[in-house]
Amino acid sequence: MLQTAEETNGGDADKRVAVITGATGGIGSAVAKALSGAGYQLVLSGRSTSKLNALAATMQTASVVVAGDLQDSALPHLLLSTALESFGRCDVCLNNGGILEVGQIQDIDIDRVCEMVRVNVEAAFRVTYAFLKHFVSQRTGHLINVSSVLGKKVRSTAGAYAGTKHAIEALSEALRMELSKTDVQVSCIEPGLIRTGLHDGWEIHPTQLMGISEPLLPDDIARMILFLLQQPSHVRIPQLMILPKGHEI
Ligand SMILES: NC(=O)c1ccc[n+]([C@@H]2O[C@H](COP(=O)([O-])OP(=O)(O)OC[C@H]3O[C@@H](n4cnc5c(N)ncnc54)[C@H](OP(=O)(O)O)[C@@H]3O)[C@@H](O)[C@H]2O)c1
Repeated sequence: MLQTAEETNGGDADKRVAVITGATGGIGSAVAKALSGAGYQLVLSGRSTSKLNALAATMQTASVVVAGDLQDSALPHLLLSTALESFGRCDVCLNNGGILEVGQIQDIDIDRVCEMVRVNVEAAFRVTYAFLKHFVSQRTGHLINVSSVLGKKVRSTAGAYAGTKHAIEALSEALRMELSKTDVQVSCIEPGLIRTGLHDGWEIHPTQLMGISEPLLPDDIARMILFLLQQPSHVRIPQLMILPKGHEI
């Protein structure tokens, strides 16, 4: 069920506007804070209204929250229309909401794997096309898809997750080619291990499994997103891999 967008403070038509999915999570909330600090107005989306409202209360710029499940096919269009109705423009979309299901053949939860495909692939594709259609019509805009180092590689027991991230990489690269002569940009970021809620519930945290003593922090990713957005328009960064020290694969 989608929840009506709620405006948290007044907007300014001169400021750039970014939509962030997965804004309640580690990466999403760090990027929201960084973009707000850089003057962006924001549409923040996730499933938890209370987390969204708490995040919005910390923003330095105007923001609107939209609570909804990415498995609802209406959500991407609601996010875009909320940006346009609240702020009169939309410049950036961070396509970030996602889940992770890994496990050995005998243990993996296939229903959860299929949910992961719906969120990481189907919903990510719907967000991609909803925003790119708008960006193409206004002849400018930047879509940033949050892939993973596992969008380029695979790891034993993580093949299904890697498959979802390879899918968004393939779509992004084809769209980048289609748009290469325009001012509409598509980038994929490919982080390695970041300390967020993505691994909550793991019996052994991947920092231990992978022997990484210092994983990336959400702020490291937020800095990279700002870097992507601060380039002059003739500079294109289609893919950006970000790994912590000690990441061997
Ligand atoms: N952490 C890492 O090591 C790592 C590495 C590479 C790539 N990534 C990617 O980074 C992205 C963000 O993950 P994170 O690390 O920030 O994890 P996180 O803290 O668990 O955040 C995940 C976000 O996705 C949202 N989400 C999940 N399922 C959803 C659904 N069905 N509908 C709407 N929103 C949903 C969550 O919303 P709720 O809070 O409402 O559940 C949350 O905001 C993911 O695409 C992930 O694959 C993470």
